[in-house]
Amino acid sequence: MVKYHLALPGSLDEKLAEEISGVVRESFLAANVGGTYTQQQSDAFLSLYRPELIRQWIPQTGGVLAFEGQKLIGNGFVMARQEHHEREDGGFLYGLYILPDSQGGGVGSSLLVYLLRVGNTIGLRNFKGKATMFPGVLDFYKKRGFGKGEEVSSRVGDVTIPFLEIHYKSSPWQYALNRILSSTITRCQSKKSSSSPRVASAPE
Ligand SMILES: CC(C)(COP(=O)(O)OP(=O)(O)OC[C@H]1O[C@@H](n2cnc3c(N)ncnc32)[C@H](O)[C@@H]1OP(=O)(O)O)[C@@H](O)C(=O)NCCC(=O)NCCS
Repeated sequence: MVKYHLALPGSLDEKLAEEISGVVRESFLAANVGGTYTQQQSDAFLSLYRPELIRQWIPQTGGVLAFEGQKLIGNGFVMARQEHHEREDGGFLYGLYILPDSQGGGVGSSLLVYLLRVGNTIGLRNFKGKATMFPGVLDFYKKRGFGKGEEVSSRVGDVTIPFLEIHYKSSPWQYALNRILSSTITRCQSKKSSSSPRVASAPE
């Protein structure tokens, strides 16, 4: 049974950062068997998910982690706009990666729902993200209500990595409902933190 946990800013320890790095690496490399990205682009992309970097950006971001027993099988993150979004209520979704053996069973869809809920909770309703160009990924987002924007790229050193911009706007009802649910998230987190867990449970 898959369980979903909230990873709030500051809640990730070293071990979890390593596990996230491993999930992204394994998922990305398996998806890249067809050679969508060059070796140089893959290396550059994966360098962004080194454990020590994950621990640096995590203070500004929230995440949702999927566990099968004790094993991390997938993760996704959301951060408030910063340089990624011009709008006050803009959020940036990233790092949605599922281990290859766990794909196709609804984990990615659930993580996406939770990430939007976490975003709504902190006042975000216009989301953007950079989807990988692997086969099926854009359709995955489109079927879940996302629109497709321009082709965009990330630069890591002198390497350019192409992505497809995706965007999503929460409906007023969805936004309102998720903000009401935010009290559950807060309660859940503070109750658990007294027994010092690595992460808090996501709301159902
Ligand atoms: C894209 C991804 C996050 C979807 O997560 P998931 O748990 O496999 O998705 P779900 O089981 O909830 O939904 C499956 C849907 O995703 C689509 N999909 C896209 N890539 C897929 C893949 N590699 N394996 C299985 N399904 C995939 C399927 O076609 C399916 O479509 P459907 O809605 O018509 O059934 C996941 O497959 C993944 O990690 N892919 C590789 C890494 C990647 O590129 N991540 C996206 C970063 S922007």
